[in-house]
Amino acid sequence: MTVPIVVIGSLNMDFVVQMPRLPERGQTLCGEGFQMLPGGKGANQACAAGRLGGRVRMLGRVGADIFGEQLRLSLQSAGVDAGMVLATEGTATGVALIFVESGGQNMIVIAAGANGKLSPEDLLSAQAAFAPGLLLLQLETPLETVAAAAALGKSRGMTVLLDPAPAQALRRNLLEHVDLLTPNETEALALLGRPGRDLPLAEAGKIARELLLLGPRSVILKLGSKGAWWTDGVRDRHFPAIPVQAIDATAAGDTFNGALAVALAEGKAMEEAIPFANAAAALSVTRLGAQASIPDREETERLLRTTSLYGQK
Ligand code: RIB
Repeated sequence: MTVPIVVIGSLNMDFVVQMPRLPERGQTLCGEGFQMLPGGKGANQACAAGRLGGRVRMLGRVGADIFGEQLRLSLQSAGVDAGMVLATEGTATGVALIFVESGGQNMIVIAAGANGKLSPEDLLSAQAAFAPGLLLLQLETPLETVAAAAALGKSRGMTVLLDPAPAQALRRNLLEHVDLLTPNETEALALLGRPGRDLPLAEAGKIARELLLLGPRSVILKLGSKGAWWTDGVRDRHFPAIPVQAIDATAAGDTFNGALAVALAEGKAMEEAIPFANAAAALSVTRLGAQASIPDREETERLLRTTSLYGQK
């Protein structure tokens, strides 16, 4: 039986500029193209889960403006129920300014706008959504709302996935309600109070186990081109990334989480769910944009079938 997926989080209109290399502080550079594309970590995860076949609802806030309408439409076209995406009078829809350099690395600055108004009271008006299934959270909405959602979800028998992005330290009273924590390298180090952005694969197992001590029941470290590392304290396993030609890494992590949620909602084990998420994330980096880059089910399964890494038929 497939269980429903609820995503609570941000919706942004992304202002994307491509350039040969990212600018230095104080530098002016000429970009190569500009596009406005639907994004926001919450909406990207919802869109990925919807496009890949999940039964998905999203709770969030946009402004009562044209960007808010476009973001709702983007969710709906991915099959997501956007009925709990609330319009916020007097506050603009969130935006993200994104620079993407050749090779796919990016720099992102967010103006939260209406995302900053998503409150614990909003969760109460969405009570009916808190029923057994998966709950996907990230950190682009107020922390008190994320913590309240995790606690409420857990108390209603939901499996809580937290993507701790953007990177920051978090309290135990949030992390102990988390079933699956999915940081990237920077986020993992920030959670442990350590500087840096890179994590050698040889240290992944140790870092993942240290993260377990903060409260979550299991951890997937998202290591980009080095793949993903999963531990639940008993089992530890590395899942290699599927090599691709990178154009834009924006939303690769969101695509991974949305895809992972779909596989878990279908009752698949981690050994099957993580390769599926790796395949979806790999495809997303071959295209520009956040939601615009997310593959559908057929394309994802085709890549999984053709890669020699996971031996699927
Ligand atoms: O994770 C990628 C997302 O981060 C972008 O879509 C942008 O909106 C920011 O939220």
